[in-house]
Amino acid sequence: MTIKKILTIPDPILRKKSTPVTQVNKDTQSLMDDMLETMYDAPGIGLAAIQIGVPKRVIVMDLSKDNDEKKPLYFINPEIIWKSKLNSSYEEGCLSIPNQFAKIERPEKCHIKFLDYNGVQKEIKADGLLSTCIQHEIDHLNGVLFIDYLSKLKKDIIIKKVSKNKKELERVVV
Ligand code: NI
Repeated sequence: MTIKKILTIPDPILRKKSTPVTQVNKDTQSLMDDMLETMYDAPGIGLAAIQIGVPKRVIVMDLSKDNDEKKPLYFINPEIIWKSKLNSSYEEGCLSIPNQFAKIERPEKCHIKFLDYNGVQKEIKADGLLSTCIQHEIDHLNGVLFIDYLSKLKKDIIIKKVSKNKKELERVVV
């Protein structure tokens, strides 16, 4: 397993639409292993393959609390097959938009169809944090970021802040 570099805005790769996985094999599993290790290291609770530059419809997540046993979740080719009319909102952040948070409204519940780590077709009913997180990650597969739900003004401020921090960081490294 390898820790990969997480791409941050305004990297154009994050706007690419990811393509479905046609066969779940050792390569897919090793991609998921790397993604999980990268996510734990960050640390974060969800990561889409495109965030490490791989445009495939693959997501890893772990919503367990710090002290709990690790409970990794793997979603290959996830599809939302139902979503509630009722919305809920969470203060969202994203590993590709470091240190920025905003309250985002999304359907409170959703049903997801996907392939698991072994390529077995599964369905889950998600609510609460799981529902929000899976919708956030599926957005990544379509090149969508949580800042896209904000006003243009708020979005521009966040992009500017992250780009500025990025430059300063590079300056220190050099
Ligand atoms: Ni994200």
